[in-house]
Amino acid sequence: MTLLSCEGLTKRFDGIKALSEFSCAVKEGETIGLIGPNGAGKTTLFNVLTGFIPADGGAVHFQGKGITGKAPYRIARMGIARTFQILRLIKRLSVLENALLCFQDQPGERLGSIFFRSRQSAKQEAANREKAVALLKQYGLGDKLHDLADALSYGQQKLLSLVCCLAAGADLILLDEPVAGIAPEMIEKILEVIKGLPGQGKTVILIEHNMEAIGRVCDRVIFMDAGEKVCEGTMEEVKNDPRVIEAYLD
Ligand SMILES: Nc1ncnc2c1ncn2[C@@H]1O[C@H](COP(=O)(O)OP(=O)(O)OP(=O)(O)O)[C@@H](O)[C@H]1O
Ligand SMILES: [Mg+2]
Repeated sequence: MTLLSCEGLTKRFDGIKALSEFSCAVKEGETIGLIGPNGAGKTTLFNVLTGFIPADGGAVHFQGKGITGKAPYRIARMGIARTFQILRLIKRLSVLENALLCFQDQPGERLGSIFFRSRQSAKQEAANREKAVALLKQYGLGDKLHDLADALSYGQQKLLSLVCCLAAGADLILLDEPVAGIAPEMIEKILEVIKGLPGQGKTVILIEHNMEAIGRVCDRVIFMDAGEKVCEGTMEEVKNDPRVIEAYLD
């Protein structure tokens, strides 16, 4: 079943076409690699999919519903979570607190609970805390729960950002360069986490310049350049496409 479809997405910044008639369809459970040279429009696509920036044209459907133009928090509630190329963890909060902020069901969000900390909301908070601790332990951050996010290595911060997407309970996870600039052993760890996501019913779109990483975890690869989808297929097919070879040699 198609989980996400983009039809004719267009986004311009001044004279630059960051997205140009970009269309794609992603099936439930797929892991898609999104590749392309710097400035190709990869992050812009994530920004449009998550409502961070409005598209100038085109449409996005998620689980059969139109999400074009919806606010980021509404799209997040519908089940799309992302990480950022430049991480957006709250560095002065602990690892556990960062994960807790990502839960969709936050009792404190409701006006009534500002005045009456009901037994129900205390229960929800305790349940979220238990789930967050379990997730952080499962992904190897169990001994860092109370450390400031700032104290983590860059690789651990990237891992925490990924765990935050899982805490959000998202069905579709968008990862913007999850292994760029980190130590080889952390790359291995994060790739193992990504490999395990389809088994948990998650669908993933992954932006990376690390082709080896893409080849290891992705079912299908989309190559974009100058805002356009140039080609898509298996890593082998895309790698051997003359348009891809030319773009990387330029
Ligand atoms: N908020 C913005 N304002 C103005 N121009 C922007 C903005 N965001 C992106 N752009 C421009 O749009 C184009 C696409 O940028 P984008 O960040 O999507 O590329 P990318 O494929 O993610 O590149 P990289 O691999 O370097 O991260 C670039 O020319 C960029 O300068
Ligand atoms: Mg980018």
